[in-house]
Amino acid sequence: MSHRVPVRLTVNGVRHELDVEPRLLLVHALRDQLGLTGTHVGCDTSNCGACTVHLDGQAVKSCTVLAVQADGGEVTTIEGLGTPDSLHPVQEAFWDHHGLQCGYCTPGMIMAGADLLQRNPDPSEEEVRRALEGNLCRCTGYHNIVKAVMAAAQTGRGSISEPGPTAEGRESAAELAQEGLGA
Ligand code: FES
Ligand code: FES
Repeated sequence: MSHRVPVRLTVNGVRHELDVEPRLLLVHALRDQLGLTGTHVGCDTSNCGACTVHLDGQAVKSCTVLAVQADGGEVTTIEGLGTPDSLHPVQEAFWDHHGLQCGYCTPGMIMAGADLLQRNPDPSEEEVRRALEGNLCRCTGYHNIVKAVMAAAQTGRGSISEPGPTAEGRESAAELAQEGLGA
């Protein structure tokens, strides 16, 4: 029988106690144990950024973090960033500026963009491009992705803190998924 360890995580404001194998990656804990499939796996080797979430307020590639390393931490996933009725400004800007094609990279791009704007509310285009260079878009939609992050910054609201998740917000993740903004 494989050895398992307890891990406590607060994800999108909700506390969870998990029993995980020590080798389990955070991305798999989120997707497979908590059902938060808005966080995507593109490569599993830290190259693509599709798995980007916020851990204790900072963007991390969740395929590079073991679930046990996140023990006691606060995680925000794309499902916790906004709701269909109240999108996060970066989500709103991706919508307005058509910052997605197939949508596979989109949750990671949005989490990386939101992280940048928390740290730097008024980035130059160069700074946006640099901040997103660890996130790959297989559809090569970079132009509109950068445009969207710049637009979110220009609203002056890009740095607002992440909204606290609500039951309604969590339940509406499926709606966001249909629009390519959440899953
Ligand atoms: Fe984590 Fe690609 S799945 S960086
Ligand atoms: Fe298809 Fe980026 S929109 S991978």
